[in-house]
Amino acid sequence: MSAWSSGYITDITYLSGWYRQQSPAILALACLMNGAETTMPAGDDPVHVLELGCGQGYAALLLAASNPTWRITAIDFNPAHIAAARAWAAEARLENVTFLEADLATLAEDPAARDIPQADFVTLHGVWTWVSPAVQAGIVRLLRDKVRAGGIVHVSYNVLPAWGARLGMQRLIHDSGRLLAGRSDRQAEEGIKLAQNLLATEALHLRQPAATGQILEQLSQLPVSYLAHELMNGHWKPSFMADVAAAFGDAKLEWVGASQLIENFPGLTLTGPQVAVQQRFDDPLMRELVKDMCIDRALRHDVFMRGARRMTPATRDAALMDVSIGMAIPPDELPLEASIPAGKVELSQAFYQPIVEAMADGPKRVIDLLHADRVQGRRDNPAELIGILVGLGFAEPAVRSGAGPGAAAMRFNQVALRRLRRTESINRQAAAASSRMGTGMPANLLEMFVADQAGQGNSDVDRLAELLGLAPDQRAAIDAIILTRLPVLRAAGVY
Ligand SMILES: C[S@@+](CC[C@H](N)C(=O)[O-])C[C@H]1O[C@@H](n2cnc3c(N)ncnc32)[C@H](O)[C@@H]1O
Repeated sequence: MSAWSSGYITDITYLSGWYRQQSPAILALACLMNGAETTMPAGDDPVHVLELGCGQGYAALLLAASNPTWRITAIDFNPAHIAAARAWAAEARLENVTFLEADLATLAEDPAARDIPQADFVTLHGVWTWVSPAVQAGIVRLLRDKVRAGGIVHVSYNVLPAWGARLGMQRLIHDSGRLLAGRSDRQAEEGIKLAQNLLATEALHLRQPAATGQILEQLSQLPVSYLAHELMNGHWKPSFMADVAAAFGDAKLEWVGASQLIENFPGLTLTGPQVAVQQRFDDPLMRELVKDMCIDRALRHDVFMRGARRMTPATRDAALMDVSIGMAIPPDELPLEASIPAGKVELSQAFYQPIVEAMADGPKRVIDLLHADRVQGRRDNPAELIGILVGLGFAEPAVRSGAGPGAAAMRFNQVALRRLRRTESINRQAAAASSRMGTGMPANLLEMFVADQAGQGNSDVDRLAELLGLAPDQRAAIDAIILTRLPVLRAAGVY
């Protein structure tokens, strides 16, 4: 542990990743769906995004590449993270992203903060639970200064009571790991092994939370850099949602909803009797506590606003009708039923199939989708359409639906491919920048490679397989991508 780290690990860098819950368009949608007035980022809007605790900067780079008119400022105190992010930005020739090496505990009082403009969107993914109380307090002071009136903040954190039953498991991994190994990734591995050994002895407080064995098994499969940052920080502490809301209240931030969009629908998150208990309260935080008591979700994604203005339901629906969305999966892969926190939801084919087919060639406005030919069902509930399609990851909101593939996005995708392939498997899940969507499209490295080559006019399977050095039996994977995934990435403007 370094002297400057306030208990946060610094001996191994964090992995690069994109989390759609921090996408500005999704955050704006979460506000609109909950009746809080805002405008969807669109076209050439000069949006400023601030990311606190950016790691190696994948999210900040991806947003900068997808949105050349936006300005992105991303902050981390680990110089290895900032150096890597800056090198990547230089390689992709991204000039609208600034990486700042600074400690969130003290940045608000640092003269360097004066140069950071107020932000329209702030994201804090994977930070709050893992840093010390002094760093949390510094984050709140920074938010108080740097979120513009009407600005939107995303924060993810490990939540109670979901983590309550696993507190002992985390502590055991952390404390034993530190005694059993040197570097924090090895510590995490040793700690997990120790917890598995102890579980095998029927240790009461590992056996009692029923899924502990399964969780330990899942943890042991995850990348070591993730495990180290997840499990080995000295100040890790999950929170009740109301306590996070109280802390953010000091920055004049009001809770408006969940960027895990499906959670904004009580009927899709809880059972009927649970909703009945929840609805005994008008207080939104009490309702969230009832929700958190009922569902097995360990990481919350909350959306706050500085100055939430309430809209009438009619104004809200008009705003949602005007949102454009595009598919993230091939239309014929839309399932007949999908998993939701409350169990399963049936997706009426008569309603959804014509809608997803209407998006086959690119994003469309929700109002046009609801009035597409052959749609059978209610045409007056844009929130539910968005909640199901975007909330479950079948579609993404589109920031500039008419735009072609952007040069910066394509450069970023090539650099991402080159860099990630040096160390990761070709099947590694990533995200491709898209200026049409203004966000990342889910794609693994093989899909990004095939899309990039297709963009250069090369869709010959044998040639692609040769370039990748693939065995003949792996060519089927390229065939499948050309057939099913390329049309989705093309409709999303990735190439
Ligand atoms: C789990 S990582 C998340 C990174 C990124 N947001 C993501 O989701 O990929 C947490 C990040 O917070 C950074 N961090 C921790 N304490 C910090 C502090 N006091 N000031 C600035 N950054 C800090 C760490 O270096 C690390 O990159």
